[in-house]
Amino acid sequence: MASGNGSNFEAIVKACHCGQINAQPVKLIGDKPKAFVFERAKTLGVDSECIDYQSFTYRSEFEDQLLRACKKDGPDYIVLAGFMKILPVQFIHNFKDKIINIHPSLLPKYPGTKAIEKAWANDDSVSGVTVHYVDEGVDTGKIILQKSLEIDRTKTFEDFCQQMHALEHQVYIEALQKILK
Ligand code: GRF
Repeated sequence: MASGNGSNFEAIVKACHCGQINAQPVKLIGDKPKAFVFERAKTLGVDSECIDYQSFTYRSEFEDQLLRACKKDGPDYIVLAGFMKILPVQFIHNFKDKIINIHPSLLPKYPGTKAIEKAWANDDSVSGVTVHYVDEGVDTGKIILQKSLEIDRTKTFEDFCQQMHALEHQVYIEALQKILK
Protein backbone atom coordinates (compact mmCIF):
# COMPACT_ATOMS: atom_id res chain seq x y z
CA MET A 1 0.00 0.00 0.00
CA ALA A 2 1.42 3.36 -0.98
CA SER A 3 0.37 6.97 -1.47
CA GLY A 4 3.22 8.70 -3.24
CA ASN A 5 6.44 8.26 -5.12
CA GLY A 6 6.76 4.52 -4.55
CA SER A 7 10.53 4.04 -4.46
CA ASN A 8 10.18 1.49 -1.64
CA PHE A 9 7.41 -0.27 -3.56
CA GLU A 10 9.67 -0.57 -6.59
CA ALA A 11 12.65 -1.84 -4.58
CA ILE A 12 10.48 -4.49 -2.92
CA VAL A 13 8.79 -5.64 -6.14
CA LYS A 14 12.14 -5.92 -7.93
CA ALA A 15 13.56 -7.93 -5.04
CA CYS A 16 10.56 -10.29 -5.26
CA HIS A 17 10.85 -10.63 -9.01
CA CYS A 18 14.52 -11.55 -8.86
CA GLY A 19 13.99 -14.04 -6.03
CA GLN A 20 15.75 -11.98 -3.35
CA ILE A 21 12.50 -11.97 -1.38
CA ASN A 22 10.47 -15.16 -1.24
CA ALA A 23 7.12 -13.59 -2.11
CA GLN A 24 4.83 -12.69 -4.96
CA PRO A 25 3.48 -9.14 -4.95
CA VAL A 26 -0.26 -9.56 -5.52
CA LYS A 27 -1.40 -5.99 -5.86
CA LEU A 28 -0.62 -2.35 -5.18
CA ILE A 29 -3.35 -0.51 -3.33
CA GLY A 30 -3.19 3.27 -3.17
CA ASP A 31 -5.41 6.14 -2.10
CA LYS A 32 -4.31 8.86 -4.55
CA PRO A 33 -5.00 8.30 -8.27
CA LYS A 34 -2.20 10.60 -9.44
CA ALA A 35 0.52 9.05 -7.27
CA PHE A 36 3.64 8.08 -9.22
CA VAL A 37 3.61 4.66 -7.57
CA PHE A 38 0.83 3.63 -10.00
CA GLU A 39 3.16 4.30 -12.93
CA ARG A 40 5.78 2.13 -11.28
CA ALA A 41 3.25 -0.67 -10.80
CA LYS A 42 2.31 -0.54 -14.48
CA THR A 43 5.96 -0.69 -15.57
CA LEU A 44 6.65 -3.56 -13.18
CA GLY A 45 3.55 -5.50 -14.25
CA VAL A 46 1.89 -5.43 -10.84
CA ASP A 47 -1.91 -5.11 -10.65
CA SER A 48 -3.13 -2.04 -8.87
CA GLU A 49 -6.27 -0.60 -7.39
CA CYS A 50 -6.92 2.94 -6.27
CA ILE A 51 -9.34 3.57 -3.45
CA ASP A 52 -9.57 7.30 -4.04
CA TYR A 53 -9.90 8.93 -0.64
CA GLN A 54 -11.29 12.15 -2.14
CA SER A 55 -14.20 10.35 -3.79
CA PHE A 56 -15.86 9.38 -0.50
CA THR A 57 -18.12 11.59 1.57
CA TYR A 58 -17.41 9.76 4.81
CA ARG A 59 -14.09 8.38 5.98
CA SER A 60 -15.84 5.19 7.13
CA GLU A 61 -16.88 4.46 3.51
CA PHE A 62 -13.27 4.83 2.39
CA GLU A 63 -12.13 2.54 5.20
CA ASP A 64 -14.72 -0.14 4.36
CA GLN A 65 -13.71 -0.07 0.73
CA LEU A 66 -10.03 -0.29 1.63
CA LEU A 67 -10.64 -3.34 3.80
CA ARG A 68 -12.69 -5.02 1.09
CA ALA A 69 -9.97 -4.37 -1.51
CA CYS A 70 -7.25 -5.78 0.73
CA LYS A 71 -9.24 -8.87 1.72
CA LYS A 72 -10.20 -9.70 -1.86
CA ASP A 73 -6.86 -11.22 -2.86
CA GLY A 74 -6.23 -12.94 0.47
CA PRO A 75 -2.69 -11.63 0.94
CA ASP A 76 -0.41 -13.22 3.53
CA TYR A 77 1.09 -9.82 4.32
CA ILE A 78 0.27 -6.19 3.78
CA VAL A 79 3.33 -4.05 3.21
CA LEU A 80 2.97 -0.32 3.76
CA ALA A 81 5.42 1.82 1.84
CA GLY A 82 4.57 5.46 2.35
CA PHE A 83 0.82 4.87 2.76
CA MET A 84 -0.21 8.16 4.30
CA LYS A 85 -3.51 7.27 6.01
CA ILE A 86 -3.80 5.92 9.52
CA LEU A 87 -5.39 2.48 9.28
CA PRO A 88 -8.53 1.99 11.39
CA VAL A 89 -8.48 -0.50 14.27
CA GLN A 90 -10.89 -2.81 12.45
CA PHE A 91 -8.47 -3.06 9.54
CA ILE A 92 -5.55 -3.82 11.85
CA HIS A 93 -7.54 -6.53 13.65
CA ASN A 94 -8.39 -8.16 10.33
CA PHE A 95 -4.71 -8.56 9.53
CA LYS A 96 -3.26 -9.08 12.98
CA ASP A 97 0.57 -9.31 12.87
CA LYS A 98 0.40 -9.25 9.08
CA ILE A 99 0.85 -5.55 8.40
CA ILE A 100 4.37 -4.22 8.02
CA ASN A 101 5.53 -0.63 7.82
CA ILE A 102 8.73 1.32 7.28
CA HIS A 103 9.49 4.47 9.20
CA PRO A 104 12.37 6.88 8.61
CA SER A 105 13.68 7.15 12.18
CA LEU A 106 15.05 4.99 14.94
CA LEU A 107 11.71 4.33 16.63
CA PRO A 108 10.54 5.06 19.27
CA LYS A 109 12.16 8.37 18.35
CA TYR A 110 10.05 10.61 16.09
CA PRO A 111 6.90 8.57 15.43
CA GLY A 112 4.36 10.14 13.05
CA THR A 113 5.03 12.53 10.20
CA LYS A 114 8.16 14.52 9.27
CA ALA A 115 10.62 12.24 11.05
CA ILE A 116 13.45 13.02 8.62
CA GLU A 117 12.90 16.76 8.96
CA LYS A 118 12.84 16.48 12.76
CA ALA A 119 16.14 14.61 12.94
CA TRP A 120 17.72 17.26 10.71
CA ALA A 121 16.20 20.24 12.53
CA ASN A 122 17.22 18.91 15.94
CA ASP A 123 20.86 18.62 14.87
CA ASP A 124 20.89 14.89 15.57
CA SER A 125 24.15 13.20 14.69
CA VAL A 126 22.53 9.81 14.10
CA SER A 127 19.28 8.82 12.43
CA GLY A 128 18.05 5.61 10.86
CA VAL A 129 15.26 3.46 9.58
CA THR A 130 12.85 1.05 11.27
CA VAL A 131 10.71 -1.72 9.83
CA HIS A 132 7.97 -2.76 12.23
CA TYR A 133 4.63 -4.51 12.55
CA VAL A 134 1.62 -2.23 12.65
CA ASP A 135 -0.50 -2.15 15.79
CA GLU A 136 -3.23 0.25 16.93
CA GLY A 137 -0.78 3.00 17.83
CA VAL A 138 1.17 5.36 15.58
CA ASP A 139 4.47 3.63 14.74
CA THR A 140 4.41 1.68 18.01
CA GLY A 141 4.33 -1.94 16.76
CA LYS A 142 6.98 -4.59 17.36
CA ILE A 143 10.27 -3.78 15.63
CA ILE A 144 11.46 -6.22 12.96
CA LEU A 145 14.68 -4.51 11.90
CA GLN A 146 16.38 -1.21 12.55
CA LYS A 147 19.52 0.34 11.04
CA SER A 148 21.22 3.58 11.89
CA LEU A 149 22.90 6.20 9.74
CA GLU A 150 25.37 8.89 10.77
CA ILE A 151 24.22 12.31 9.67
CA ASP A 152 26.99 14.07 7.79
CA ARG A 153 26.55 17.75 8.60
CA THR A 154 28.92 18.81 5.80
CA LYS A 155 26.25 17.64 3.35
CA THR A 156 22.83 19.13 2.50
CA PHE A 157 19.40 18.09 3.75
CA GLU A 158 18.64 16.73 0.26
CA ASP A 159 21.74 14.51 0.48
CA PHE A 160 20.56 13.24 3.86
CA CYS A 161 17.09 12.45 2.42
CA GLN A 162 18.68 10.53 -0.43
CA GLN A 163 20.82 8.50 1.96
CA MET A 164 17.80 7.74 4.09
CA HIS A 165 15.81 6.51 1.12
CA ALA A 166 18.65 4.31 -0.08
CA LEU A 167 18.90 2.86 3.41
CA GLU A 168 15.12 2.30 3.52
CA HIS A 169 15.23 0.20 0.36
CA GLN A 170 17.99 -1.99 1.81
CA VAL A 171 16.43 -2.38 5.24
CA TYR A 172 12.95 -3.11 3.88
CA ILE A 173 14.28 -5.92 1.70
CA GLU A 174 16.30 -7.38 4.58
CA ALA A 175 13.34 -7.22 6.94
CA LEU A 176 11.05 -8.98 4.45
CA GLN A 177 13.70 -11.63 3.85
CA LYS A 178 13.76 -12.21 7.59
CA ILE A 179 9.98 -12.72 7.76
CA LEU A 180 9.55 -14.68 4.52
CA LYS A 181 12.39 -17.17 4.88
C1 GRF B 1 9.43 6.78 3.06
O1 GRF B 1 10.34 7.73 3.55
C2 GRF B 1 8.79 6.03 4.19
O2 GRF B 1 9.63 5.84 5.26
C3 GRF B 1 7.66 6.95 4.58
O3 GRF B 1 7.19 7.44 3.34
C4 GRF B 1 8.26 7.47 2.40
C5 GRF B 1 7.82 6.75 1.15
O4 GRF B 1 8.74 6.88 0.10
N1 GRF B 1 6.68 6.25 5.38
P1 GRF B 1 8.48 6.16 -1.28
O5 GRF B 1 7.09 6.54 -1.73
O6 GRF B 1 8.62 4.70 -1.05
O7 GRF B 1 9.52 6.69 -2.22
